[in-house]
Amino acid sequence: MSKQKKLEKLNKKMSVCNNCKLRKNCSHVVFGAGNPEAKIIFIGEAPGKKEDELGVPFVGSTGRILDKMLASIKIKREDVYLTNICKCRPPENRDPLPEEVAECWPWLEKQIAIISPTIIITLGKYALNSFLPTAKISEVHGKIIDVEIKKIGKIKLFPLHHPAAARINRKTKALFEEDFQKIPNLLQSKKEQ
Ligand code: URA
Repeated sequence: MSKQKKLEKLNKKMSVCNNCKLRKNCSHVVFGAGNPEAKIIFIGEAPGKKEDELGVPFVGSTGRILDKMLASIKIKREDVYLTNICKCRPPENRDPLPEEVAECWPWLEKQIAIISPTIIITLGKYALNSFLPTAKISEVHGKIIDVEIKKIGKIKLFPLHHPAAARINRKTKALFEEDFQKIPNLLQSKKEQ
């Protein structure tokens, strides 16, 4: 079965998930979007208002920052896969609760297993800490880290600041943009190995 078909099957299951309370108050389960054959998966925190309305990740103001950054390294949105730690929008855009992150984690694990990317790029501390609970974004951003995911195995993690944080803090913006420019090289060096 193709990766596309496997993701479609998985999305169907996600659409009826009621494992946490978030589903009751949101309009759409925002599964993910992009290329099932992608070498890179970007993982954000949770859908915002616009994402919840449209059922597509990163389509609001934060998404526009991401699009701009992707364009700056000549990568198209259709070349990568975009998703979130939580697939349902927390009310009023509050931070997801630990139990909501934990309930949603198996869906992400299945997405990663299907897509089998070369690199996982986490955006912000929630996504980072889902893989590495004690890591500090201020210390590990822009560095490649080898992680072991249960049922999947070893994979390269590249933590970045969240684009929404980059929007509100000048220093974070500079770090986010600098780290982002390293992405093409990461893909290149993986190819050469
Ligand atoms: N912020 C996120 O972390 N994810 C989205 O999909 C949109 C905004």
